[in-house]
Formats: sequence, C-alpha cells, structure tokens
Amino acid sequence: EYPMPVAPIKSSKLTYTNSSTQDTIDYYEVELKSFQKQIYPNLKPTELVGYDGISPGPMFIMQKGREAVVRFSNKGPTNLSVHVHGQYNRAPWDGWAGDIALPGQYKDYYYPNSQNARTIWYHDHSEYATAEDTYRGQQGFYIITDVEEQGLGLPSGEYDVTIAIDAKVYNPDGSLRFDTNDNVGLWGDIIHANGQPWPYLSVEPRKYRLRLLNGAISRTFSISLSVEKTDGFGDKIIDFNVIASDGGLFAHPVETTNLQISMGERYEIIVDFSNYGGKNITMKNARGMGENIDYVATDMVMRFTVGNSVSNNSNNNLPSNLVHVPFPPDKTEADKDFTFERIGDEWLINGVGFSDVEHRILTKPPRGAVEVWTLHNSGQGTHPVHIHLVDFQVLSRTGGRNTVYPYEAAGLKDVVWLAAGETVRVAARYAPWDGVYMFHCHNLVHEDHDMLVAFNVTQLGK
Ligand code: C2O
Ligand code: CU
Repeated sequence: EYPMPVAPIKSSKLTYTNSSTQDTIDYYEVELKSFQKQIYPNLKPTELVGYDGISPGPMFIMQKGREAVVRFSNKGPTNLSVHVHGQYNRAPWDGWAGDIALPGQYKDYYYPNSQNARTIWYHDHSEYATAEDTYRGQQGFYIITDVEEQGLGLPSGEYDVTIAIDAKVYNPDGSLRFDTNDNVGLWGDIIHANGQPWPYLSVEPRKYRLRLLNGAISRTFSISLSVEKTDGFGDKIIDFNVIASDGGLFAHPVETTNLQISMGERYEIIVDFSNYGGKNITMKNARGMGENIDYVATDMVMRFTVGNSVSNNSNNNLPSNLVHVPFPPDKTEADKDFTFERIGDEWLINGVGFSDVEHRILTKPPRGAVEVWTLHNSGQGTHPVHIHLVDFQVLSRTGGRNTVYPYEAAGLKDVVWLAAGETVRVAARYAPWDGVYMFHCHNLVHEDHDMLVAFNVTQLGK
C-alpha cells in the first residue's frame, strides 16, 4: 500500500505588470511529455504522458483577478489541445477539439481567472483522442481562489486536499490497456486516487477540505466514508458535508452520507476526522452504479489513516453560511431540447456528431440570454453532459433516478449526470463571451465516438 501522491503547485515563470493600470498577468510554461511510473513493484514501469511529465499534472492555484498565460509545449507523442474545464475561457483558448498543437509545437493559452473560487481541472480535448490522452495521464487540477472564500476559515494548506479519482486497466506487463476500437466505455478494474491504486492518506483528527474530481473515462462513483467499528464487527458509515460543486461554494453546507460523482464532476466535502483518532476510514464506492462494470475491488477508492494529534488547529471551521450563489433568474419554459442516444455505431446528440462538420453547431444562444435546456437520455448508456462556457442550475430530473439530489441543487454546475431513461432540465446564462463552444458527453469514449457538438453564442442569436 502506498501513500496518495499530491500534485506539486505550479509556479509562474514571469509576472508582467502594466505600468499604467498596475494590472498583473502571470506567465507559466508547461511541457507535455511522456514519462514512466512504477505503479506495480513487480511489473515493468507504466508508460504515461502528462503535463510536466507527471499525472495528475502540476496544480495551478489562481487568485481571482489575476490573468494568466500558459504556454503548453508539446514534447509528447500525442496531439495537444488543452481544456480548462470549469473556466469561461475565450473560444480560441478553450481547447476546441480540432485546435491541435502537434508534437514539437506549442500554444499560448490565455486564462481570465475572473470567476469566483472554484475547483477546476484541465485535460486534453484532442478530437477523437480525448479518452486515450486523458486516460494516459493528461489531466490536472486548476484552482481559483478569492477573498470571499479566504475569509470563511475553511481548512486550508495541508488540510485542503485535491483527490482525482479514476479507474484503469493494466496488461500483465504493467502497460495500460486501452482499446481504440471500443466505443462503449472503459470502466477499469483498478481504482486510482491521484494516479496511485487504492492509496492511503495520513490525516490528523480534525476537519479537512477534500476536493473530489471524477477524472475517469467511463466510471461513475458513489462515494461513502466508512469507519471500522471498535468491536471489530462491520462498518459504520459517517456523515460529511458537501460545500461546493463544479461552479464553486454553496450558500450552506449540505450534509450527506453518500455522494454520486460522475465523470468530469467536482464536489468539495468537509470531513471531520476528530472523533476517529487512531482509526482507518475507507472511502467506499457503491456497486452497480449507472452502467458501470464492476470487478472484485471496485467497491473501494482509498483509505484515510487518522493520527492521534493535531499539529495546527487554525481554519478548523465549517461555517453554516458560505457564499451567495448567483443562480439564473427563474424560468420554466424550455428553450432547447437535446436527445443523447446511440444510433448505429455512434453516440449522437439530436442525431449529430462532431464529424458532421456542417451540422455540428446545434444552437445559437443570444449572448446574455438565460436559456433552459432539456436533456433527454432515450435509453442506452449513461451520459454526464458537460456544457462549456457556462455554469448551470439543475432544475429537475424525471425518469431514472427521478430526483435532483440536494448537493446537485445547492450550487452551479457544468456537468450533470444524465442516466439511462432520464430527462434533466438545466438553466444557464449564455455569457460572457461570443463564440463557438462545445457540449458533449463526458464518458470520453462516447465523446470520441462522436457525442460532441457545439453551440454558437452570438450577439443577436442568429
Ligand atoms: Cu472536461 Cu469538454 O470537457
Ligand atoms: Cu455518453
């Protein structure tokens, strides 16, 4: 058993200051390259490709209001198109699937960092290769922080931990298995947290902020925390509080014992380990979620080993009031309908896929308009739907699970899990920029086969 790795924080290379406005802009450089990692001690090292040669890639921590330019140099064997998932990037720097930097090329991406505090991630978005590239290592965290969040006294520093969960399959020689002919999904039998199979994290008996990301290709997780009972018989499921989702902090914490997190989603939880000194707490995963294929140990994610002393008691708070959440104004009538379905060998949205170049812009929301989109899953497959550019509110879910969970309703999101047979309505303001943006299924195998389309935000909606 190995400790959970935590990504290093990326530092900027240069900072420019505009002498008249005193505005600053930070400049970073990242190299995409292949590397080897010894995942299994008795097998050969695994070949991976990652940002700065690590996976998860280096972690960006951005202060709201400080713009950034990041030069991504492609030294790797794959194509490169970087999407910062959860930030409203201008279209040219949003990782459009066809906007590829080839090996040997680089691209400078501009990021506004003007949204509220939130947990974002960045990953490859190259056309027809997003699944394989993300699977082989091209993903990392990108955090925006702001003064409002900093004033809340939430656990910070070493008590604020990012955890990217995913699932992979290995060949007997230690290489990763990925079947490019498979167009259904890659569920994986080996669960990883931050790139390490079933790791442990040593924690102190106090509150922690855990930022969870589902970075898997096709596997949906249903997380709970379980502590061994002192009498040695069975487990006890413990409560935790969800404080944030894709679009940032909630107005109030939402207490739960279980959290469903589908691909691309982020949830932040506060776990209070103070009653569990000297114990082990297991992060469990429910079996039979969505269309997951389960294996012998896919019911476990990682373990927390709780120590007996606290070295720092500051920021050990969970305020009952967090921030104001800017939900869009109430609107009930649906503006647009999208059906996600399998037709023949392809996964399509309203019958269209990314390779249908002439038709793939499905809609043109006027810039600034609030629109309600109805998303239908007509049956097969489970589709976490991601809309670029916007934060949306999940209004309703009918069919399937037939409910919006309190932690889905409490914040703004950019991915919503649309399980088989479900219809989900989401409301968003299509702003702040004009431009062509993607929306798609975040089962990345579906996305590559061809469940990826676009919308065009225009001034007039024409
Ligand atoms: Cu996380 Cu369009 O992707
Ligand atoms: Cu899908």
